[in-house]
Amino acid sequence: MRQDRTVDPVTFIIIGATGDLAQRLLLPALYHLRADGQIPDRFAVVGFSRRGWSDDTFRSFARQGLPAGALDAEAWERFAPHLYFVPGDSTKAADLTVLGQALAAIETRHATGGNCIFYIASPPSTYHALLSALGRQGLVRRGDRPWTRIIVEKPFGGDEASARALNALIDEVVGESGVYRIDHYLGKETVQNMLVFRFANTVFEPIWNRRYVDHVQISFVEDIGVGSRGRFYEEVGVVRDVIQNHVLQLLTVIAMEPPAVFDEEAFRNEKAKVLRAIPPVRPEHAVRGQYGAGVVHGQRALGYREEEGVDPSSVTPTYAAMRLSVENWRWAGVPFYLRAGKRLARKDTEIVIDFRQPPLMLFREWDMTEMDPNVLILRTTEDEGISLQFAARVPGHRRQIRTVPLDFSYAAMGTAERPAYEHLLLDALRGAQTFFARRDEVELQWAVVDPLLRQWAEHPPRDFPNYAAGSMGPTAADELLERAGRRWRGAVDR
Ligand code: BG6
Repeated sequence: MRQDRTVDPVTFIIIGATGDLAQRLLLPALYHLRADGQIPDRFAVVGFSRRGWSDDTFRSFARQGLPAGALDAEAWERFAPHLYFVPGDSTKAADLTVLGQALAAIETRHATGGNCIFYIASPPSTYHALLSALGRQGLVRRGDRPWTRIIVEKPFGGDEASARALNALIDEVVGESGVYRIDHYLGKETVQNMLVFRFANTVFEPIWNRRYVDHVQISFVEDIGVGSRGRFYEEVGVVRDVIQNHVLQLLTVIAMEPPAVFDEEAFRNEKAKVLRAIPPVRPEHAVRGQYGAGVVHGQRALGYREEEGVDPSSVTPTYAAMRLSVENWRWAGVPFYLRAGKRLARKDTEIVIDFRQPPLMLFREWDMTEMDPNVLILRTTEDEGISLQFAARVPGHRRQIRTVPLDFSYAAMGTAERPAYEHLLLDALRGAQTFFARRDEVELQWAVVDPLLRQWAEHPPRDFPNYAAGSMGPTAADELLERAGRRWRGAVDR
């Protein structure tokens, strides 16, 4: 999509440029795009942050962020002279004036024609003041020639009301066509693979509905803890960190209707329709958890409350599981179970479509202890692939049926996937908004989880920590499915 759009000359400004996101993801993505010839000669990257760095310090910071073996000396020599650093505090008008002056000089040197992308990589609590200040200073403005775009990281606001206020401000300063609300899961090849799987095949779409699907599961399982992000995580917790955005976005792609055409508005309209059909999660359909000390992959791991930057009596959830529904013709009555958590036994994001039992079971007398209904598993991490499980007769005299997998791995296609940030930064450079969340989507996403978050805030948990690092979460999350005669599925079932 929008492959045809070219990248205009541009200055790419990173606000909060000395952080981990800039070093690990943004700068490497820009370097690779440039090395790949996707970014024109007329470009510059400007880091802005409070640290008193020089251009050279910033350049070596960027260089250190490249994964070992990813540096091509010649490509680096062509990239590094386009990197600049401006020290300053984004809340101070005088510092923004200095930034404006520096940008004017850099624009002239690299003939970028005044086009600017601002990447807001500072903490979410700073967005409001920062965007107002950038608008007031005239650094960010509406208009096509030259154009300004802003890329905003998730979480976008802290609830529906704050997201709406942020959206109103954005509308005032750049307008909807100038904002790119990034959710890096939409930049993963997985999402596009899923769209092709659903809409470029004949056999799955006719059974992709309430008649054939018993329920859907999305598991966003991580083995890492909060690491050095304890302070940030204390502000957000698992629902704001990954469920309100990544998990709900994956859900929209699974549940959406096929758009009539594949353009940015048609695609996002269908996703928004799904979100509009989801009633808020009911607290009795949700489970929360927090990890205690344990063992992950054979290594001892701290409990959440012992992590750096975390309150020793914190009630922030690091795990959540919930059941929700999509109240439309296709999905009414089909439960969608979501779970996400840190410090679990493995890293995996899996989508499971669990089909109904056949309408008539002919083989009642047979041994079916190892047989399940059909299950389709879409694996989106590491060994990305698709597995369809179906029943087969075990050869021999015993009358036995067993479930067997039909497996496909994307690795078998032999081409390496590109990181999500590369796809998305290139889209933003080209002015393609398809894989960025639209205003109504983020507001609707908050509406799904807001009442639950409020209820949880009003009733702090008494049993935290309630799962051990290295386990698969609290047992109450299993009971959420067991009550309905179901169980979590996937590479490892629990
Ligand atoms: C980020 C969350 O958005 O996504 C992190 O803030 C999480 O907490 C990460 O670990 C997961 O992304 P990925 O690409 O590693 O699956």
